[in-house]
Amino acid sequence: TSTTQDFKVADLSLAAFGRKEIQLAEHEMPGLMSIREEFAAQQPLAGARVTGSLHMTVQTAVLIETLVALGAQVRWASCNIFSTQDHAAAAIAVGPEGTPESPQGVPVFAWKGETLEEYWWCTEQALTWPGAETGGPNMILDDGGDATLLVHKGVEYEKAGVVPDPATEAESDEHRVILEVLTRTVADTPQKWTQLASEIRGVTEETTTGVHRLYEMHTAGSLLFPAINVNDAVTKSKFDNKYGCRHSLIDGINRATDVLIGGKTAVIFGYGDVGKGCAESLRAQGARVIITEIDPICALQAAMDGYQVTTLDEVVETADIFVTTTGNKDIIMAKDMARMKHQAIVGNIGHFDNEIDMAGLAAIDGIVKDEVKPQVHTWTFPGGKKLIVLSEGRLLNLGNATGHPSFVMSNSFANQTIAQIELFTKPEEYPTDVYVLPKHLDEKVARLHLDALGVKLTELRPEQAAYIGVPVEGPYKPDHYRY
Ligand code: NAI
Repeated sequence: TSTTQDFKVADLSLAAFGRKEIQLAEHEMPGLMSIREEFAAQQPLAGARVTGSLHMTVQTAVLIETLVALGAQVRWASCNIFSTQDHAAAAIAVGPEGTPESPQGVPVFAWKGETLEEYWWCTEQALTWPGAETGGPNMILDDGGDATLLVHKGVEYEKAGVVPDPATEAESDEHRVILEVLTRTVADTPQKWTQLASEIRGVTEETTTGVHRLYEMHTAGSLLFPAINVNDAVTKSKFDNKYGCRHSLIDGINRATDVLIGGKTAVIFGYGDVGKGCAESLRAQGARVIITEIDPICALQAAMDGYQVTTLDEVVETADIFVTTTGNKDIIMAKDMARMKHQAIVGNIGHFDNEIDMAGLAAIDGIVKDEVKPQVHTWTFPGGKKLIVLSEGRLLNLGNATGHPSFVMSNSFANQTIAQIELFTKPEEYPTDVYVLPKHLDEKVARLHLDALGVKLTELRPEQAAYIGVPVEGPYKPDHYRY
């Protein structure tokens, strides 16, 4: 790892490979590329200092360079310890004009296989702007809310005048690491986080779990700046979460294990947007897919889509593949894993690593963990039974594969870019609250992706538009429509 410059990545010599894949991705990301064209002259993000915390993949590289093309300065970290594609990170650090010997790109702090300490250090680096008056960003682009969390925790403890003691008051390993970062930063620069937060115009949040955190903070009255919920743009959650996972779930399972999926029994926990895509991909491979749900509506959907819906208890001893997609905690516990069959595959595609009880698994008397290859481990129980656990319980589509492909991320990231422009250029229109983008922008993002797929849209005639009560140019649906 190189440390001499204002970035930290695994290997700068991977930059040329990264650049080639970025160029291929650009063609597959018509949404981002047409936004670049549309706003090239206007430079709406001039003066923006964007801190990004989002999986540092090839697709994210195209997002970063789009923000830069619109005038922003950017600092970046990944939002997961396993999700960085090192060649993409190298290409971003080097930049289109630079070389590994003379990097000229964007300060990026990300590599595949960070420790928790390194992860939170990287997040802190992305939030620290040398030379900026407040020392921080004026915009956050988040995925899962970790950058937003660090700022909010910092402000909370500065207000209280004390950071909880990492040694005695931490609730988990990760919480201890966060408290250590805050203890150090608050000692170095008193009021660092309060000052930094005061200039942040807003955050745009990518995923279900991060959005959930934002609404909680807003309800509690602790949200410090406005937020746009990008996840609930239709062209995000109904596409990325569903079709993205339909692609990248089996990609992860295949690269990790190369096990034949056809004929196997697979259990998907949760039939939300992610679960729907995951179930479809496994069924398409010939697996017999079983769903678990707590929500009667989603359970009924799964049943009508033709899946068996039952409880883990019923199938834990017979299924071959288990994938959690709930965004909830404690879905597969150690006692469940103890009942699974030999070489059952266990993985998670939800945002955080608390869906599978990894700590409980590690605590089983006599259990032995062995690395098959990075992000693929067997856990051998005292009797000799082995389980295959993917990405140590972290999101396997990014840990074991490369996440979602470019075309679907072009939709998500077009929403991200539009949301950044909205919050940065119209702060007076967004008092502190959590917003979703207006439907006409959602429809715009979809429109930007039609040509590439050869879609010919039917044009509404004025009398028809009047008959159904919508403008000819849209929006075509009321806000309560669910797609
Ligand atoms: P969602 O809310 O649409 O779906 C989650 C489903 O899980 C809901 O239907 C809920 O009823 C169900 N559920 C909750 N607790 C359960 C339990 N104990 N047992 C069974 N089912 C349960 O959320 P969405 O959009 O599908 O996202 C799920 C997770 O995936 C989130 O953490 C999100 O941030 C993450 N995500 C990950 C992506 C990736 O690439 N790995 C992409 C998009 C989202």
